[in-house]
Amino acid sequence: MSGVTDSPFRRLVKRCSGDSVGLLVSEFISIEGLTRKIMRSQIRMMFHPEERPVSIQIFGSDADLMAEAAKIVEDSGAEMVDINCGCPAPKVVKRGGGAGLLQNLPRLENILEKTVSAVSIPVTVKIRNGWCSESLNAMETLKIVEGSGAQSLAVHGRTRIQLYRGEADWNIIGELASEASIPIIGSGDVLTAADARGRFEQTGCSGVMIGRGAITNPWIFRQIVDEMEGREAFDPTWREKIDAIEAYRGMLLDFYPEKVAPGRLKMMLSRLIKGIPGAADIRRDCMRTHDPFEMLELLTAHCDRFGILDMDSAGITERLRRREFPVPSSAQAA
Ligand SMILES: Cc1cc2nc3c(=O)[nH]c(=O)nc-3n(C[C@H](O)[C@H](O)[C@H](O)COP(=O)(O)O)c2cc1C
Repeated sequence: MSGVTDSPFRRLVKRCSGDSVGLLVSEFISIEGLTRKIMRSQIRMMFHPEERPVSIQIFGSDADLMAEAAKIVEDSGAEMVDINCGCPAPKVVKRGGGAGLLQNLPRLENILEKTVSAVSIPVTVKIRNGWCSESLNAMETLKIVEGSGAQSLAVHGRTRIQLYRGEADWNIIGELASEASIPIIGSGDVLTAADARGRFEQTGCSGVMIGRGAITNPWIFRQIVDEMEGREAFDPTWREKIDAIEAYRGMLLDFYPEKVAPGRLKMMLSRLIKGIPGAADIRRDCMRTHDPFEMLELLTAHCDRFGILDMDSAGITERLRRREFPVPSSAQAA
């Protein structure tokens, strides 16, 4: 996910979910940018060995440049290269890239043929159901993808026009899965382990791709494997969450300039603390400081004060329901 799944985030997911994560995929990278000399030298920085197996996603609309960019990805040591045919952003589709390729399948075919023959690592493709509800051409796209030698197709069950509105249509994903000779990976609105199991059962797809669900819950992949294997889904305590956030802080400080890391850490904290007792207080306190070490000290002290360090989310929800927590300081002051 652009703007979200940078290398520290992907490593956080790997730390939280371990080998339950089948494959991590990078944010999309423009083929124009990537083929410029400066970006070539930076690609090694784009993923960390801990992320393996990792796929680098690229986007654009020029077949020769796509093939050249895929070769750069291969040379970087990534296990796979993925071609984005799903991005709905106007600045991408206007130039024929992202979901724009769904409106020009001959161009997509040419891109895939050139790219597949340029590299020996697997080339995979990510699409949406179609451009709009009147042009649901995922099945036609599948045939082109299969014919080109690309090795899997991920499908976000919305159209380009829908952006992220409405619900993803998994019926189309099921139809593709029953027709395809290559793995079909479904994407859209999988927020819990039970959602994932339901989608596997409904569609017979080979894999489920998680986007937004991982932003607030990097443990989701582990929970899905627990669910699929009939175990109770892992539910981290706040002590375990804080340990993971501490590791993430280290990754951010290694990866980003000193000025950038605190903002990224604040974003993560603000997502994870949703729903804990006194969340508004701790969010406000963390937002006030720019020191990433102080942020975690504040959070640990807060969790300790509420006695939730050794509680998981189920325990917290139950105690919230029973109104067992002390009144937060903001409410006392009011
Ligand atoms: C902020 C954001 C950025 C995204 N960036 C990408 C991207 O770079 N490449 C891509 O293939 N999909 C991208 N997506 C789409 C997701 O991969 C996924 O298909 C979609 O969000 C539906 O799945 P979800 O409900 O699990 O998030 C992005 C989605 C979001 C919300």
